Formats: sequence, C-alpha cells, structure tokens
Amino acid sequence: MVVCVCNAIREKELRDAARDGSGKPSDIYAKLGRKPKCGQCLSFAQTIINSEAATA
Ligand code: FES
Repeated sequence: MVVCVCNAIREKELRDAARDGSGKPSDIYAKLGRKPKCGQCLSFAQTIINSEAATA
C-alpha cells in the first residue's frame, strides 16, 4: 500500500527504512531521499514508524 502519494513511498519501504531506528517521518523520508510535500501522510507514516519501532 502507498503511504505517501506525493513521494510514492510504499508501506514496506517505510517500514524497512524505519527499522534501524525510529524517528520522525521527515527523518525517514530523508533517508529515502525524499521529503514531505503536502503533509497529508505524516500522521499515518508516524503510526507505521511507531509500530515498526515497537516490534523491532
Ligand atoms: S502524501 Fe506524503 S507528502 Fe503528500
């Protein structure tokens, strides 16, 4: 599933990037070479990052 439409970031990609240390969505997006645009995805992205951190 696509988490961030603006940057075409998929949930798996986000989880993989979040696995080696949790952080803010903007930090994780930066790791992927992207940055937030519209911001609509950020709270959902944070939820996914948190859940990945909880299971790491
Ligand atoms: S959907 Fe992620 S920045 Fe717009």
